[in-house]
Amino acid sequence: MKKLEQLYEGKAKKVFQTDDPACLIVEYKDDATAFNGQKKGTILGKGAINNRMTNLLMQMLEHRGVPTHFVQELNERETVVKKVTIVPLEVIVRNISAGHFAQNYGVEEGIVFEEPTIEFSYKNDDLGDPLINSYHAKALKLATQAEIDTIVRLAFQINEALKEFFLAVGITLVDFKLEFGRLEDGTIVLADEISPDTCRLWDKETGEKLDKDRFRRDLGNVEGAYQEVMKRLTGSQP
Ligand code: TMP
Repeated sequence: MKKLEQLYEGKAKKVFQTDDPACLIVEYKDDATAFNGQKKGTILGKGAINNRMTNLLMQMLEHRGVPTHFVQELNERETVVKKVTIVPLEVIVRNISAGHFAQNYGVEEGIVFEEPTIEFSYKNDDLGDPLINSYHAKALKLATQAEIDTIVRLAFQINEALKEFFLAVGITLVDFKLEFGRLEDGTIVLADEISPDTCRLWDKETGEKLDKDRFRRDLGNVEGAYQEVMKRLTGSQP
């Protein structure tokens, strides 16, 4: 597969055309941002870890019947994915209170919910990714009701699979953000990434944060946390 011109550069990844019109190549960067790009930094080795971890988790999800954009890992930082049109919704699933949930609703972090929650943000940096509900998403023509139904079903299915997978290596899956895309024929598939950038991961025994909150909140040892998650998932570092 030939890497052709760059289509897009986001905060954590670059996307390239390929000689196959149905496929793109994503390249993961070490750049990190938080608070809608207001805080900027570098997490050394993050690109390689997020690439490998996303691919590992997407393949696990495929085996469990979740359609994803994953095609083939090319090297440490680059992966071939199916070309999709991204549904401009950030789909957030929560098992335990943390982050904006704790902040917005005035509760402490660490409350274990009886059932997971789901919410959508409108993926729009100029507006600061505002929270929206499914009626707003339909009014804005971001997705149809049928697409939203599929996204909700897949998101909860993904939550069950990821919770079990992380728990097996001593990690509690607190919350995470997903993005979905449409293939040419309209099929909804999981896209983007699943990594410590997009999940809150706490050590099951100590509660230690093993995710991007270490960067957001200046907790130190950011690289070490990403490496620790990778090591537990694969038994080795990338
Ligand atoms: P929140 O508590 O800040 O809303 O974050 C919920 C989850 O979503 C958390 O695991 C981090 C992830 N997330 C992203 O992946 N991208 C973002 O831009 C934000 C705000 C959160």
